Amino acid sequence: MESPFLFGQVVTGDDFTNRQIEKSTVKSTLLSGNHIILISPRRYGKSSLIKGIFHEIQNTKYQTITVDLTASRSENLFLESFARQVLNANSNKTFWKKMSRILKNIVPTFSMSSGDFGEVATLSFNWQEKKRTIEEILELPNLIAKTSNKHQIIAIDEFQNIEKFEDPQGLQLQMRAIWQHHTNVSYCLYGSKRHMMEQIFTRDSSAFYNFGQVVQLQKIHEKYLVPFISKKFNLTKKHIDEGLALRIVKMMRNHPEYVQFFCHLIWTSATRKIQPKQLKSGLKKLMEATSVHFLDLYDKLNNTQVKVIKAILKGEQQLTSQYTLQTYQLGTSANVVKALEALRKEDFIEKKQKNYELINPAFEFWFRFKILQDDIFEIE
Ligand SMILES: Nc1ncnc2c1ncn2[C@@H]1O[C@H](COP(=O)(O)OP(=O)(O)OP(=O)(O)O)[C@@H](O)[C@H]1O
Ligand SMILES: [Mg+2]
Repeated sequence: MESPFLFGQVVTGDDFTNRQIEKSTVKSTLLSGNHIILISPRRYGKSSLIKGIFHEIQNTKYQTITVDLTASRSENLFLESFARQVLNANSNKTFWKKMSRILKNIVPTFSMSSGDFGEVATLSFNWQEKKRTIEEILELPNLIAKTSNKHQIIAIDEFQNIEKFEDPQGLQLQMRAIWQHHTNVSYCLYGSKRHMMEQIFTRDSSAFYNFGQVVQLQKIHEKYLVPFISKKFNLTKKHIDEGLALRIVKMMRNHPEYVQFFCHLIWTSATRKIQPKQLKSGLKKLMEATSVHFLDLYDKLNNTQVKVIKAILKGEQQLTSQYTLQTYQLGTSANVVKALEALRKEDFIEKKQKNYELINPAFEFWFRFKILQDDIFEIE
């Protein structure tokens, strides 16, 4: 029997719960011709949210396009892939004819496809005239919107990767300068390196400052996750008490993917009714499944960062107080501030009201188990 819990992939439909408010904000903003900047730590559901919204919009007067920057290693490759996706999403024969007449530095060559798709266009780009070609590519969405009479909605996933290109500032300035005149295009730019995304969009010195509405995706509330979990167990003729489902959510700190992953691990060994001891064996499996990855993460931390995490997990609130500095041998308060900044940058921790918390609930269990040697399996 297939597991009802999905992880490690984009989820839609019944596998995607709630996010009604975010959905309606993102959707109405994009449909009104404005732009969205969507930010969250990894695995909170950005790609899934956008895919779901695009699914609802399809077959309307809007054309949706998703460009993924995950694999783009250079400016040219990104721009080429951007142009290909924008053009291909809109393609039909009359459209291509019109575009061939307008385009100068992007050259489509037509050939018969091997399948049943008729003619296909292969694009080549004139990189000898780099500046003009970039301009032409960045202008494409609005040009297509006018030519096809369809408002274009363009999502760019892992947008922060743009910072790895040769001249990130120059490219961003050019993008902003051109895109701000695009009246028939909405851009939805999102990414999971929160610190970098915030730098790109919320610093008043950056090219994309105030470009669009910033939506910070949060964890999912238990009032949605608990019924979601119960329903999924029920669907496969297994049953879980509400109290136990709530414990799962609390253990995984409402983290969308870890709740699904932990449920999956419990589900695989569950018989008809889930027992508390199955949470224990699920947690053991979670530690086994993640230990190699977490050891890698741990190895990247320096000594002060490790000690700061220890202090956070021991519940210390005054991390720069004399007491904490001495108890955890942290050196100076400047050391602690530096370590906190680095941990925040890499999305290990986030500030919740007065306290810091670890973002990844499974890493927290692993750290407690391996480094602090707490008995994490003490589950009644
Ligand atoms: N609304 C939701 N309901 C249930 N599960 C969810 C939801 N959103 C996300 N998830 C879980 O989180 C996982 C990751 O989702 P997704 O890939 O959309 O996140 P992401 O933020 O785009 O991740 P990344 O930062 O790696 O790009 C999914 O496989 C699923 O397990
Ligand atoms: Mg994603």
